[in-house]
Amino acid sequence: MGDVLQLSGVRVRRGAKEILAGVDWSVDDGQRWIVLGPNGAGKTTLVQLLTGAVFPTAGTVEVIGERLGRVDVSELRQVVGFASAANERRVHASETVLDVVLTGAYGIQGRWRESYEMLDTGRARALLNLLGVKDLRDRRFGTLSSGESKRVQIARALMPDPEVLILDEPAAGMDLGGREDLIASMSRLATDPRGPVMIVVTHHVEEIPPGFTHVMMLDDGVVTAAGPIDEVLTADRLSALYNMPLTLDTIDGRYHSRRRTATPRVD
Ligand SMILES: Nc1ncnc2c1ncn2[C@@H]1O[C@H](COP(=O)(O)OP(=O)(O)OP(=O)(O)O)[C@@H](O)[C@H]1O
Ligand SMILES: [Mg+2]
Repeated sequence: MGDVLQLSGVRVRRGAKEILAGVDWSVDDGQRWIVLGPNGAGKTTLVQLLTGAVFPTAGTVEVIGERLGRVDVSELRQVVGFASAANERRVHASETVLDVVLTGAYGIQGRWRESYEMLDTGRARALLNLLGVKDLRDRRFGTLSSGESKRVQIARALMPDPEVLILDEPAAGMDLGGREDLIASMSRLATDPRGPVMIVVTHHVEEIPPGFTHVMMLDDGVVTAAGPIDEVLTADRLSALYNMPLTLDTIDGRYHSRRRTATPRVD
């Protein structure tokens, strides 16, 4: 049994479509997961189950031993941090970066907000520093580039010190430099033994940060492989997932993949 997350027989159906067709998944403390799969495989739906945004049609989702459906969604927000491209920039456009991060902690402050304020400001600054964006703290959130914005959103998601941090396609739309900075930040978090369990959805093996330990492959609502990254992430499994012959190389803890081309004949 996963001590942080446990999904058993999870199905999500919308009309005639079965988006997730019986997912079993165990996640333990200390694990850092990558979720890979083609467009429409069900990756976003899977992570939305963990944030309480989507409910299973059948099966059970447990987060830290609590069955979802029985847990208050505002309580869940303290336990599961989530950042994705949707809406955030519009919602917080006129707030300063520091406030966007600080308000990520609201649920835990409640009426003790006054006394926690100093502590929280210190934590928000430390998180901005960890994500490499501390100089942006007084900027309006809406003026940030997408890479800067993404890193601030991750700092915000980390503010309540969640047990699980979920990032859905964090590097989407970023330039090469922004992507590399983000990967370095995610790798720093992943290798911090006190850091949260991480689940990162991505389309590109090039974006897997060093320090990630496990991978899940999702294809048309079905988990086709899940386990330690050095066992599960192979050229053969990737080729099956994307239905084309692919290579897989590792350099300095990073992965690279491309279509396998016929080896030129030497004669
Ligand atoms: N509310 C819904 N009603 C009907 N179909 C839905 C609904 N939500 C999602 N789907 C469909 O379920 C499938 C999985 O969607 P999901 O967003 O989970 O995929 P994904 O793996 O995140 O894809 P992408 O890589 O493109 O982000 C898609 O075919 C999508 O169109
Ligand atoms: Mg998606």
